[in-house]
Amino acid sequence: MTLESVADRYAVIGNPIEHSKSPQVHALFAQQTGQAMQYERLLAPIDRFAERVHGFIAQGGRGANVTVPFKLEAFALAQALTPRAQAAGAVNTLSFSAEGIKGDNTDGMGLVRDITRNAGVPLRDRSVLLLGAGGAARGVILPLIEAHIAGLVIANRTQSRAMELAQQFSHSDVPVSSAAFEQLDQPFDVIINATSASLDAALPPLPDGVFGPQTLAYDMMYGAQPTIFMQHAVGHGAKVRDGLGMLIEQAAESFFVWRGVRPDTAPVYQWLRGQL
Ligand code: ATR
Repeated sequence: MTLESVADRYAVIGNPIEHSKSPQVHALFAQQTGQAMQYERLLAPIDRFAERVHGFIAQGGRGANVTVPFKLEAFALAQALTPRAQAAGAVNTLSFSAEGIKGDNTDGMGLVRDITRNAGVPLRDRSVLLLGAGGAARGVILPLIEAHIAGLVIANRTQSRAMELAQQFSHSDVPVSSAAFEQLDQPFDVIINATSASLDAALPPLPDGVFGPQTLAYDMMYGAQPTIFMQHAVGHGAKVRDGLGMLIEQAAESFFVWRGVRPDTAPVYQWLRGQL
């Protein structure tokens, strides 16, 4: 038998999908850990996500990553959800078995691991400012709380969205609140940009006082050049990091969910950085 015929099938499903780096990342993980798996790109028509997933299951698919714009549909499609997917309100990792379709979300864990392990910045007892109140922001809140941060403040252009999001996590072990940008008057240990402002080369209106010499300013976006948010933070004396490590770590966490094996992310990170 060829490897192809015994390899378990996985895919990343989105629209568009050609740009996705997940197939290369998972191929490197599989090679490194000796797992017999195939990982492909699947384009789903905008109105046929569920159909595409069921088609893939019928072809023997074991699991899938889900990307833009289907994370909410994947959440609705899943017959069981992990607590972190439930808290995120979105699913980026599906597992298919005889029990049905299980939805998980590895984005937040990817962020936490990148900050604590790769950047070497502890989160326990640290103050965190989260910029943005969309899906990307919501997805990281529970893993941050579970990392035992001291407290989380959410700030967003549309303040009511930040208030609603903070409200959803108001019964957590960690204080979660929202604030208007102009109310922020103290430095934070970690500032996470979960807005899509960098895409418009825009900057959330942050007072200078939020940056201290120990602050890590983390942008979930990444690219060949530092984002405008990172440039701004460097100008105010902060340490910075982009979201490439989060991308690799969320993939590694999905790989772990499916295969029970943790790949070494460092060489994959170096390789992908070189491709940007
Ligand atoms: P995602 O799923 O990527 O989080 P989203 O739900 O559309 O996408 O959320 C985008 C986030 O980026 C929101 O917090 C948005 O702020 P609003 O809630 O006020 O819309 C924020 N955002 C987008 N463009 C921005 C900009 N130019 N300046 C500041 N915030 C911006």
